Amino acid sequence: MHKFFITTPIYYVNDAPHVGHAYTTILADVLSRFHRMAADEVFFLTGLDEHGQKVKQAAQKQGLDPQAHADLLAPRFINLWKKLDIRYDDFVRTTQRRHTRVVQGVMQKVYDAGDIYLGEYQGLYSVAEERFITETEHASGQFRDVKNIQEKNYFFKMSKYQDRLMAHIQANPDFIQPEHRRNEMLGFLKQPLGDLCISRPKARMDWGIEIPFDHAYVTYVWFDALINYISIPGYLSDEQKFKKWWPADVHLIGKDILTTHSVYWPTMLFALGLPLPKTIFAHGWWLMGESKMSKSLGNVVNPLDLMEQYGVDTVRYYLMREMVLGQDANFTIESFIKGVNSDLANDFGNLLNRVSGLIGKNHAKTVPDPGQLTAAEEQVKQQALLLPGLIQPLVSAYKVQEAILTVIDFVKLLNKYLEAQAPWKLAKTDLPAAGRVLYTATEGLRIAAIWLAPVMPAKTAAVLSILGAEGTTAGWGQLKPGTVLKEHPPLFPRIEVAKE
Ligand code: MSP
Repeated sequence: MHKFFITTPIYYVNDAPHVGHAYTTILADVLSRFHRMAADEVFFLTGLDEHGQKVKQAAQKQGLDPQAHADLLAPRFINLWKKLDIRYDDFVRTTQRRHTRVVQGVMQKVYDAGDIYLGEYQGLYSVAEERFITETEHASGQFRDVKNIQEKNYFFKMSKYQDRLMAHIQANPDFIQPEHRRNEMLGFLKQPLGDLCISRPKARMDWGIEIPFDHAYVTYVWFDALINYISIPGYLSDEQKFKKWWPADVHLIGKDILTTHSVYWPTMLFALGLPLPKTIFAHGWWLMGESKMSKSLGNVVNPLDLMEQYGVDTVRYYLMREMVLGQDANFTIESFIKGVNSDLANDFGNLLNRVSGLIGKNHAKTVPDPGQLTAAEEQVKQQALLLPGLIQPLVSAYKVQEAILTVIDFVKLLNKYLEAQAPWKLAKTDLPAAGRVLYTATEGLRIAAIWLAPVMPAKTAAVLSILGAEGTTAGWGQLKPGTVLKEHPPLFPRIEVAKE
């Protein structure tokens, strides 16, 4: 048995959750479920980033104290995850004592080891991005809310670890994925790496974790937040637990937080003498037209709004099947309707309706006997047996879209098989032969449902329940002849669009 430790970014509680947050969280959930299916022991960690300037400002706008503001927003995330059927194993809030004490412990440790020093800082600070930026970055005009700040601060000797980080990235092609992000980071590391300013004077910004060796300062929000990946699995608190889970198998992130994860974080881990995560995977953005989708895009339809009308699983399916991991994806209602209608209504749903309709009509609603398989059935069976070998490597390589489409291809093959064998005709002349075909197609449907379960847990559970096949696995032949099929409403209705 393998262990699989997967994380999402912890989301700022400066606003309600939106599709960008939901996407990464669903992706982590889908990957977790695939790994659980392969009998891996999974630890799926998500949560909230509650400190820092952004959160403080958002709270001020509401006239609230930052903790009260975070307490108000936290349930919005938790409830959305519940609604989206997210099965996380732990949920961190960075204001929790179990996290703050580890952050302080880490600070002290790195300080004692001589990797943190007090220095003078003068530079351009982007309030919106919560970090100091370079002149070149400022000139790019991409940063809002830039201030010139001069103050005494604590610095982490990040530069000391530059060569080691470079060597690690070069020696471990899977460390930063996809490859173009890895190249981007290798390019970035050709420039000399500065040290990282990791404190904020309380006089300017007090919403953070106090630095244990200087009470006039709080910790920089990124230094605090990244540590959640080790504080929750037990670093400095539960040695056994920590040994079991660390290093993480994958940190899933969006491309905009690549530098913090693949430069700040690994150098922090070097300073602590800890192994690095196996993979940092940066996905692209959901775009609407040219812009990144966010809460502030306001009144446009967003995939989460479609949940009420079309169901949670349909939205999960769309988000997973539409985005090629690593690239940006464009959300349009047209692509939603097209994806849902073609894969779910025309392929998967149609297969379900056909087999249950025909078994209902010609076989007394009872799963027929498979009889002696002919070459045509053998071919279907062989294809089903190939699925684990096709899908599992795709999932391991973070090619979730391809994994899903592999299942859909199998469903298409089943529909073609039905078309060619025409059990509705066979029923008139050779009922056992019609039964053999329907057994085979239904068994294929069952196996397809098992493979789609990580993406659509509720809908596929409904399919398995109709087939009386709860608790079965992806192996061939587990559908029981003699099972009476349950009645069911249409599970994958076509989305009808009114013609203009
Ligand atoms: N708090 C930090 C992360 C700390 S992790 C130790 C943060 N939070 S965030 O709430 O601003 O963003 C979290 C994630 O949401 C990022 O990975 C970002 O890429 C993702 N998304 C926000 N909008 C997005 C889209 N429109 N599309 C896809 N993901 C995007 O950064």
